[in-house]
Amino acid sequence: METSKVCLVTGASSGIGFAIARSLNDDGHKVVVTARRLEKLKELNISDNDILVGDLNSVDLQNDLETHIYEKYDRCDYLFNCAGMIESGTIEEVDIDKMSAMLRLNVETTFRLTYKFLKRFKKQGFGHVVNISSVLGTKVRPTAGGYAATKFAMEALSEALRMELTGTNIKVSCIEPGLVLTELHNSWKVHPKDSMNIHTPLSPDDIVNTVRFIMSQPDHVRIPRLMILPNDHNI
Ligand SMILES: NC(=O)c1ccc[n+]([C@@H]2O[C@H](COP(=O)([O-])OP(=O)(O)OC[C@H]3O[C@@H](n4cnc5c(N)ncnc54)[C@H](OP(=O)(O)O)[C@@H]3O)[C@@H](O)[C@H]2O)c1
Repeated sequence: METSKVCLVTGASSGIGFAIARSLNDDGHKVVVTARRLEKLKELNISDNDILVGDLNSVDLQNDLETHIYEKYDRCDYLFNCAGMIESGTIEEVDIDKMSAMLRLNVETTFRLTYKFLKRFKKQGFGHVVNISSVLGTKVRPTAGGYAATKFAMEALSEALRMELTGTNIKVSCIEPGLVLTELHNSWKVHPKDSMNIHTPLSPDDIVNTVRFIMSQPDHVRIPRLMILPNDHNI
């Protein structure tokens, strides 16, 4: 791959964020990672100094991430917004407190971090925000109304930014995966691969391949949205 980039990966302790951070690190990029579980982040073999642990909803942590990256590297090329959670259920019966926590992390925190780094990207004249949205950023299903609402919000943020940043060297991409085998559904009584008859879900490495594709594009190309589905995804 081209020259070494400075990348911030949120939600880097498991699943998609972990795989993206590991591949970026393996490819020789400078990677700053964050999540709440230190022991999992340490498995990435990234220098301790570039691991910032905590709840990403904390504005203090968001500030620390910005300060650390710009004091140490004086630039940031990529913001990967991977931290996220899922809460499902009908709107009538959903756990409203967990739903609100999801709205906060998936929407408010993604907006805040993007807002913060966007100002830096404008100042430095380049940068790329990569949002891990979902196929549910493009359609709704019963019991997925709340989660889809958070992903629709991410899509709206990205699409508005794409238009607002036209003609600049700042890029925004939304990756829209179908089912990926990660820890996201660990607490579900029935895993979606069984309820949706998906025999071979995507792996986090499949998402890494889409990231490599997006990162390999020349300056004049924009990939605003990229959907990736397992073969037997049929709804
Ligand atoms: N898996 C799928 O089928 C799928 C499909 C489409 C889109 N996505 C999206 O992909 C993204 C990553 O999900 P995943 O599947 O990789 O799930 P995952 O394995 O559960 O990873 C979620 C990550 O978010 C972090 N996180 C959660 N709450 C946090 C908080 N309050 N503060 C800081 N970090 C927090 C977790 O770290 P800690 O627990 O250590 O804090 C973890 O690193 C999510 O936005 C998800 O919606 C997933």
